[in-house]
Amino acid sequence: PRTVYLSRHGESEWNVTGQLGGDPVITARGEQYAKQLSVFLRREFRGQSMLSVWCSQLRRTWLTVRHIATDSCICWRSLNEINAGICEGMTYEQIRTELPSEWEQRKHDKLRYRYPGGESYQDVIQRVEPIILEIERQTKPLLIVAHNAIIRSIYAFYKGLRQEEVPHVDIPLHTLIRLRTRPYGCDEQRFELLK
Ligand code: F6P
Repeated sequence: PRTVYLSRHGESEWNVTGQLGGDPVITARGEQYAKQLSVFLRREFRGQSMLSVWCSQLRRTWLTVRHIATDSCICWRSLNEINAGICEGMTYEQIRTELPSEWEQRKHDKLRYRYPGGESYQDVIQRVEPIILEIERQTKPLLIVAHNAIIRSIYAFYKGLRQEEVPHVDIPLHTLIRLRTRPYGCDEQRFELLK
């Protein structure tokens, strides 16, 4: 499609506690974002339901897209967040103090570091590749609501970023990114829907 919208899910309960991964639901603020997102898109498409919506198989993304007017919504497992293995459910502070060697290794090479029992950014980039091919086959505008590492990977593909840059791209919560593909690169606009 010419236009791809990217967003993380609305704030989850574990965003508040700072815990990684899991399958938490969204908070009241996250729900506010979900509503704002549907309002914004309704205006953007003047009520026509010509938008396809993709989310992950985790509850926080589904809860974020559920108000959006669309006739096609797909939940992809390959859009699930990076698997943090033994660190799932931990905070960064816990990892730093309880698993200092893991913390150091990740800090040293965030792209290649693989969580024990989980994934690395390289794994995620590979996992998302078929999704990118699938995006490219779409004809309608597409909204993808997923997670930090996933949105970073998809965004980096469209912006032509190097793999090393992927783990460090800034993708804030409650911000909708609109990418419009051009013959050379793509235009980007960011909409902060909740301050
Ligand atoms: O904190 C939210 C989250 O989506 C975690 O589930 C995930 O592990 C993390 O962000 C990915 O960001 P980073 O790779 O910078 O730790």
